[in-house]
Amino acid sequence: MDFNLTEEHLMIQQAARDFAQNELLPGVIERDEKQQFPTEQIKKMGELGFLGMMVDPKYGGSGLDTVAYALAMEEISKVDASASVVMSVNNSLVCWGLQTFGSEEQKQKYLTKLATGKMIGAFCLSEPEAGSDATSQSTTAKDMGDHYLLNGTKNWITNGSTASVYIVIAQTDIDKKHKGINALILEKDMPGFSIGPKEQKLGIRGSDTHSLMFNDVKVPKENRIGEDGFGFTFAMKTLAGGRIGIASQALGIASGAYELALKYSKERKAFGKEISQHQAIAFKLADMATQIEAARHLVLKSAWDKDQHKNYDLSGAMAKLYASQVAMDTTIEAVQIHGGNGYVKEYHVERLMRDAKITQIYEGTSEIQKIVISRSILTK
Ligand code: CAA
Repeated sequence: MDFNLTEEHLMIQQAARDFAQNELLPGVIERDEKQQFPTEQIKKMGELGFLGMMVDPKYGGSGLDTVAYALAMEEISKVDASASVVMSVNNSLVCWGLQTFGSEEQKQKYLTKLATGKMIGAFCLSEPEAGSDATSQSTTAKDMGDHYLLNGTKNWITNGSTASVYIVIAQTDIDKKHKGINALILEKDMPGFSIGPKEQKLGIRGSDTHSLMFNDVKVPKENRIGEDGFGFTFAMKTLAGGRIGIASQALGIASGAYELALKYSKERKAFGKEISQHQAIAFKLADMATQIEAARHLVLKSAWDKDQHKNYDLSGAMAKLYASQVAMDTTIEAVQIHGGNGYVKEYHVERLMRDAKITQIYEGTSEIQKIVISRSILTK
């Protein structure tokens, strides 16, 4: 068993680390405070190939594997989880889904722009009444022959206003339940499509999250992904990979907070010595380092499973469940180690603590991951 990263993986990791330090760190506190989307930074991420990491170079992507993507996600998330959620949705939920299941025409028309960041994508599954219970879609896509007529509302959509392309999951035939659901590609300027106000969030405040409304939007038939009724399977398969991305994000938030706490503990003195020399702090650091290492193994194992074309539903769900718990626990401890300084913005850890929470909620709550894991182990 070889735990060494390849030269290429190390290079990608370093490139993402440098980008995060040089381009994302300056201004990250202000963007969080003002709920400001990192427009310039995302543009640069597109130019550097971070938005289409696993896309074939013939469609403008970087042609890298999932391990490289997970390593880059960790580094970006250490510094700016708002930028990394944009990266995660674009890579995992939009580009990967289109590359794997889209038609050649859809790839030429949309993927080439999405992979280079010329367009940003959004994935629209959640509804006011269908977040975890994804089969209960009330958004409808009525079959009108040469087009679908889309009606309904989606909630909590990442990249809600910055996206140009939206993959919308909608019910075509209610009698067929989840087998009557379709995934449609919607363009921002299609008549009848509107965007609700920006959500005021606890964390990942630099990312833009909105409700979306569809009122008799005509979506051409050629914009359906896969066969009629493939939409739910499309969503499940896409989310399974998306969970590896969010697990990497959670890992990055945890390791970012840990690195800050470690550094601070060696600088801050109390009772005549550095606080890292007090066992109360040293033991916290030991727990954090151990949990982060375990989370990293789960994340990289699930990415490796995907690259080896093994089933990654189980390992991805385990990685997300565990890494998001570690993100929450570690960031709380990082604030504690910083004491009063941890509670103020300039030390970054309070933001990481707020950002950590969403990793236990989106792309399937922790409870959903436990459903996926328990079903998998019980049916083996
Ligand atoms: N791959 C392929 N097919 C799958 C699958 C997978 N990973 N998981 C389920 N399916 C299929 C099943 O095989 C089944 O098909 P058949 O009937 O043909 O066998 C069908 O889907 C229905 O499966 P279930 O009966 O298991 O469905 P369920 O209603 O019990 O729910 C669930 C399963 C796992 C709970 C699912 O509803 C789920 O994942 N929910 C959470 C959805 C979610 O992650 N939402 C987050 C929104 S996206 C987001 O957050 C993006 C963002 O902004 C960052």
